[in-house]
Amino acid sequence: MKTRKNLFIALEGIDGSGKSTQTKLLTEQLTAQGHKVYSTFEPTNNQIGKLIRDILRGNTKADHRVIAGLFVADRLDHLLNEEYGIVKKLEEGYTVIMDRYLFSSYAYQGAHMDIDWVIQANAMSAQILRPDVNIFIDVSPEVSMHRVHTNRENVELFETLDGLKLVRSKYMEAFEKLKDVEYVFSVDGNRTPGLIAQDIWQKVQSMLGQ
Ligand code: TMP
Repeated sequence: MKTRKNLFIALEGIDGSGKSTQTKLLTEQLTAQGHKVYSTFEPTNNQIGKLIRDILRGNTKADHRVIAGLFVADRLDHLLNEEYGIVKKLEEGYTVIMDRYLFSSYAYQGAHMDIDWVIQANAMSAQILRPDVNIFIDVSPEVSMHRVHTNRENVELFETLDGLKLVRSKYMEAFEKLKDVEYVFSVDGNRTPGLIAQDIWQKVQSMLGQ
């Protein structure tokens, strides 16, 4: 049973869903209310995360199964590292906001291999720390595609319309499979950042009992 007062929140969504903007806004709002907030992301900026980004950009070649394994390792290090591990941050009373966590692996790696294998491979991380809430910013792949191509120079491995549609469908599949153990709150991401932020803020406030 959860005894912490500080929350562990994961933001999820396909590329271009506006997760990073929402992570930033939520961090600012919680900080303004006096919470200690640690906001972070996966793939991380640590050694394994850097290798993953290199692969996603196409600079280093790796099989999808290897990528799945690297995400497992990056995540465990992100949780357990003695210096920056989020298990420790939560113990220190920080509210932790993660830009992507377990469901990103289920959706993205699950698009290329058996989703149950991906869930199993991540079982250790899930056992160590499940988010108090997974906030899914649900944006249509068409809207996302438009945003990704107008805002970015690098189009990564999964960023084609069919790729985004497949990833969204895998998110849905994973939510259904894990509905008994994971708490998912879905928000309509096809709106302005301000409106999306309002929904997220309301949910977080209600979880904090405010
Ligand atoms: P970003 O745009 O949120 O930084 O996403 C980095 C990419 O990493 C994005 O295309 C999704 C991908 N990814 C996975 O494939 N599996 C994972 O477990 C995570 C965390 C990210």
